[in-house]
Amino acid sequence: MSHLSTVFVTGGAGYIGSHCIVELLSAGYEVVVVDNFVNSVNGPDGESVALKRVEAITGKTVTFYECDLLDKTALENIFAKHKIDCVIHFAAIKSVGESMEYPLLYYKNNLIGMLNLLEIMEQFGCFQLVFSSSCTVYGEPNFLPITETHSVGHNITNVYGKTKYFIEEMLEDITHANKKWNIIALRYFNPLGAHPSGLIGEDPIKPFANIMPLISQVAIGHLPILTIFGGDYSTPDGTGIRDYIHVMDLASGHVAALNMLQKSHQNYKVYNLGTGQGVSVLQLVKTFERVTGTAIPYKIVERREGDISVMYANAELAERELEWKSKHSLEEMCVDFWRWQTMNPDGYRTKSTKMTNGHR
Ligand SMILES: NC(=O)c1ccc[n+]([C@@H]2O[C@H](COP(=O)([O-])OP(=O)(O)OC[C@H]3O[C@@H](n4cnc5c(N)ncnc54)[C@H](O)[C@@H]3O)[C@@H](O)[C@H]2O)c1
Repeated sequence: MSHLSTVFVTGGAGYIGSHCIVELLSAGYEVVVVDNFVNSVNGPDGESVALKRVEAITGKTVTFYECDLLDKTALENIFAKHKIDCVIHFAAIKSVGESMEYPLLYYKNNLIGMLNLLEIMEQFGCFQLVFSSSCTVYGEPNFLPITETHSVGHNITNVYGKTKYFIEEMLEDITHANKKWNIIALRYFNPLGAHPSGLIGEDPIKPFANIMPLISQVAIGHLPILTIFGGDYSTPDGTGIRDYIHVMDLASGHVAALNMLQKSHQNYKVYNLGTGQGVSVLQLVKTFERVTGTAIPYKIVERREGDISVMYANAELAERELEWKSKHSLEEMCVDFWRWQTMNPDGYRTKSTKMTNGHR
C-alpha cells in the first residue's frame, strides 16, 4: 500500500459512496466519512446504517461524522483531527425534478459544499481529489458513443446537471492556477445494482431519482405500476437508451482513479465511467423480469421535459489510462439489486430508525 492511505469521503452514507467504501477498504485504504443524511438513512445513535453494514462486509472500521458540507467550521475540525491524504467528493443532491423546483437549494448545496471542501483541502495542504461528475454535463449528444472530448455545458436541461458542469469548470480553473492540484472528475453514466451480499443497496430519502428502485418497488408490490417516460424516441423500441453500469464497477473505478492520482500527477483529468453499451428502458425492464421471475406492469406516458433520448459512453480512455473496465452484466445488476430489495423490503429502515429528514 502506498503512502496515500487515508481517504476523506463526502456523502459516503449514500448509494455510490457506501459501495465505493467497500472497495476502498478492501484495497487497503482507510476512510473518514461525512454525510448529513439529507438523502441517506441514519440509525438511532446518529450512525449511518449503510456504513455499519459496510463494516460488517469488510470487517474493517469506518470513521464517520455527521456533518453538512455547508458547515465549514465542522469540516475544518474534522480535517484538523485526521491526516487526510485524498478526497472523494460524492456529497450532492441529485434529483433532476427537484433541482428545477428549487434551483437555489441545488446551487447552494452542491456549489457551496464543493467550495467549502476545496478551501479546507487547500488550507490543510491536501490536493488530491476525485469528483463525482455525471454524463448529464454532455447535454444532448452530438455523437455516440460519447467520448470525454464531446462538448460540455451546452443544452444542459436541468439545474442538477448544471451544478456538475459548473463544478467541473471550477476544478479546471483551480488546477490552472495552482499546479499542486491533482484532480480526476469521473463522469458516471447510469449506476444500477447493489453489493452482491445484499447487505447494502440504494435507499434514498428523497423521492426516487433512479429507475432501478422504482422497478423493484413495483416488483415487490409497494408500487402498482412502473411509469416509463417517452415511448416515441427514435430508438428500436421507442424508449430512451442509457448506459447502465453496476455500482460495484463504479466503485472499482474510484479505486483505479485514486491509484492513478498516487502514481502520477494528473493536474486535471476527466474520465467516463460506463460500459459502452446502450440499453433501452424496456430492455432493462424485460431483463429484470426474466432474471428475477417477477412481473413489472408498466405504462408509457409522455416524454419528460429535459430527458435525453440516447446516451452511452465510450469508456476506452478509462480502460487505457486507469486500467479499469466494467465487468458486470445487466443481468447481474438486476439480480444483485433484487437480492438487496428482497433481503431488505424496507431498505435500511426499521421501526427504530430515526428519520430526521425523512419524507416517507
Ligand atoms: N446515482 C446516479 O445516478 C448518479 C449519476 C451520476 C452522478 N452521480 C453523483 O454521484 C454522487 C453520489 O450519488 P448517489 O447516487 O450515491 O447519491 P446519494 O444521494 O445516495 O448520496 C449522496 C450523499 O450525499 C449526502 N449529502 C448531500 N448533500 C450533503 C451535504 N451538504 N453535506 C453532507 N452530505 C451531503 C446525502 O445525504 C447522501 O447520503 C452525487 O454527487 C451524484 O450527483 C450520481
